[in-house]
Amino acid sequence: MATREKDACDLLDADHRAVKKMFKEYEELTNSRGRTVAQKKIDLARQICHELTVHAQIEEEIFYPALRAVLKDTDLLAEAEVEHQSAKDLIAQIEAMGEADEMFDAKVTVLGEYIDHHVKEERNEIFPKARSARKLDLVSMRDQLAERKEELMGEMA
Ligand SMILES: [Fe+2]
Ligand SMILES: [Fe+2]
Repeated sequence: MATREKDACDLLDADHRAVKKMFKEYEELTNSRGRTVAQKKIDLARQICHELTVHAQIEEEIFYPALRAVLKDTDLLAEAEVEHQSAKDLIAQIEAMGEADEMFDAKVTVLGEYIDHHVKEERNEIFPKARSARKLDLVSMRDQLAERKEELMGEMA
């Protein structure tokens, strides 16, 4: 296989994999007990929310609009934007909770399920469309996403 340069989709998918790993860690924590576990869960959930917020924002500011400009069929993008909104609602609920109780676990678990579904659509449907759009320079978009991500990570830290 010919090697190709890493593009915008590779960067976004690396985020997807990183956050998937954090959801797995969270799931493992729900099986353990102890005084320190509750705080670990809250910290990890906050980290997940932070990662997802930044990720959604760089997609909404840079990736989705660029796709909208070149794709004929934008149904998938509209769906993706609705899914972002549902995820953000749940993220806001999680961020407002101060205790890692059963409801907290439930919200984090459901958020993980939403994100799994959403990532599948990006990976299997949106990324292939982006990569076949000749007018998109996904390699330079990669740098643009990385730069904006770094900026937002700093701002929101
Ligand atoms: Fe994404
Ligand atoms: Fe997305």
